[in-house]
Amino acid sequence: MSKSSETRPLGVALAGFGTVGSGLGRLLVENADIIRRRTGRDVAVRAVLVRDAHKAREVPLPPGAVLTTDPARLVNDPGIDVLVELMGGIDAARGIISAALEHGKHVVTANKALLAEDGLALFRLARRKRRILRYEASVAGAIPVVQALKESLVGNRIESLMGILNGTSNYILSEMTSSGVEFGEALRQAQELGFAEADPTLDIDGHDAAHKLVLLIRLAWGVDYPYAALAVRGIRGMAALDIRFAREFGYRIKLIGQARLAADGAGAPGDAPLRLEAGVFPALVHHTFLLA
Ligand SMILES: NC(=O)c1ccc[n+]([C@@H]2O[C@H](COP(=O)([O-])OP(=O)(O)OC[C@H]3O[C@@H](n4cnc5c(N)ncnc54)[C@H](OP(=O)(O)O)[C@@H]3O)[C@@H](O)[C@H]2O)c1
Repeated sequence: MSKSSETRPLGVALAGFGTVGSGLGRLLVENADIIRRRTGRDVAVRAVLVRDAHKAREVPLPPGAVLTTDPARLVNDPGIDVLVELMGGIDAARGIISAALEHGKHVVTANKALLAEDGLALFRLARRKRRILRYEASVAGAIPVVQALKESLVGNRIESLMGILNGTSNYILSEMTSSGVEFGEALRQAQELGFAEADPTLDIDGHDAAHKLVLLIRLAWGVDYPYAALAVRGIRGMAALDIRFAREFGYRIKLIGQARLAADGAGAPGDAPLRLEAGVFPALVHHTFLLA
């Protein structure tokens, strides 16, 4: 990269300007000074892709950004270095990420569903094109865990990982525990507060957590655990009575994503395939345990 291309602002396109996309757009403007001081470079949002250009939006577009409904506008713009995919869904997102990589752009995505179900081809394409495909925000972005597994822990043998991987389910279970409300009422509250989607299926049936678990397994063990092979159970149908009984015995019910080396797979020598046990399920967690 020439000196001039390093010092000109990094050109960014936001594909998606919903909850996450508009939040990122706002932060890139509000925190421009901090970003410049830490990275030595300005970031300029040059284009924003949406489905409906006429929709009223609460967050203004970053100054200088054009609003478009045409993915080709982003992909063909030589002033765009990085495409940030925040649309969600599978097909359209896969299309624009592939096209961006093909056109020599780096890509950042928060789309765990796409990466879990169909990520390998995209990672291969990125490698072939020598472009970066990053996805920290797709799994536990606030912790953050992706870079830690990829870099800091790269030399460690990981035996197991477990965590609460879905905020919506966790909110519902916490409300049911603290207020004694039934599942339906807790879900309604979560939707009113904006924690749960209008269609909360992916969250409450465990699939969102399962998508994240597939990505974590790939990072921790370098294997592609087929999404369809994962045992997945969500919290739909959990009753306030279940939570009360668990509480009386000193337990909380949590939706847990867990993966571990199977007893006979631990320390598999040489090229022997790793045997992993993995799943997402509601579990009894003792109240003294951190995850409670
Ligand atoms: N929400 C969260 O807390 C959260 C946390 C971590 C990761 N994520 C991930 O982040 C991604 C975005 O989530 P979100 O909650 O921000 O979604 P969202 O609020 O529904 O926003 C989606 C945005 O993408 C645009 N869009 C969708 N399909 C499109 C298409 N085919 N062509 C052009 N534009 C399209 C929409 O345009 P319009 O505005 O015109 O409808 C909207 O601006 C998802 O992959 C999600 O899993 C979300």
